[in-house]
Amino acid sequence: MTENGAEAEYHSKDFDFEELSRDVHNDPSLRHHLLPFESSGEDVRVGGEEGSDAWRKFHARHYSGKFFKERRYLLKEFPELAVPRDGGCKVLEVGCGNGSTVLPILRGNENVTLYACDCSVEALDYAKQVVDGSEVASFRDRFYPFQCDFSHDGFPSWLSSKPCQETTLHTELVSANVYSNKTSCYVGGMDFVTLIFTLSAIPFKKMPMVLAECFSVLKAGGMLLFRDYGLYDMTMLRFKPDQRVGFQEYIRADGTRSYFFCLHTVRDLFLQAGFTELELEYCCVKSINRRKEKIMRRVWVHGKFRKAE
Ligand SMILES: C[S@@+](CC[C@H](N)C(=O)[O-])C[C@H]1O[C@@H](n2cnc3c(N)ncnc32)[C@H](O)[C@@H]1O
Repeated sequence: MTENGAEAEYHSKDFDFEELSRDVHNDPSLRHHLLPFESSGEDVRVGGEEGSDAWRKFHARHYSGKFFKERRYLLKEFPELAVPRDGGCKVLEVGCGNGSTVLPILRGNENVTLYACDCSVEALDYAKQVVDGSEVASFRDRFYPFQCDFSHDGFPSWLSSKPCQETTLHTELVSANVYSNKTSCYVGGMDFVTLIFTLSAIPFKKMPMVLAECFSVLKAGGMLLFRDYGLYDMTMLRFKPDQRVGFQEYIRADGTRSYFFCLHTVRDLFLQAGFTELELEYCCVKSINRRKEKIMRRVWVHGKFRKAE
């Protein structure tokens, strides 16, 4: 199984995480990943709005959708997204990019109304094209993309469970029909928030604030579904020492970031934000690069968290 889940067969325990951890600790060439991080002051490479500028530029450069790969495994990981609910089901996909996660959610449940945000207008535009071009016309009417920089501004108040007076919506791309009644512009809170390879993309120090925002837009009893890069994932071990910007935190040449999570860091972050843990584990998957005849050990973190009733 690859990151994008193209294969039909689903599996997540191809190797033992502890065995990988031992291999990393015994390899002198990987020592820099394990050392405590010593900051040399403010990181000048972070860029505007703490890195979201780098993501905007990334999407502007890759507008062709080269990075669009539908995450077909999503409903196998999170089957609750496919369960029909009386009164419908509201989902917020945080950092939706060009829509890799959006289509499986819309396809999996005709009750779902999907709100999806990103800092990049280009990415949202591409996601909208993917949805508009899909085989099912109703996808379009259930999809509401909007732009926001959630690590800087948080989420717009109209998403929340309480009525608001806000009449200027932060929504360049949201279809106007839902929000035409200006005295009651709130959406009423989310049943699910999905954070799929998004938390790792923001600076570590911003994560508590983003999780607090996710908590606040969920209805009581709502769930946060989490999947992201895990510690010692192959892509982490490729970073060079000068690309470290924190402990388990790296910056790519284009200025975008990646954090690699261990389970106790995820647990601490989510419990501190007020969530209750339902599931939390590593997915360890061997993926084969046939061209280079190499086996790659991929590590992801899978988690489900609830906001108490
Ligand atoms: C690795 S991509 C994940 C995309 C998608 N969730 C998926 O499943 O493929 C991370 C996304 O987070 C977005 N992002 C990063 N920082 C952001 C911020 N501060 N505000 C809004 N979006 C942000 C990026 O533009 C990017 O599209």
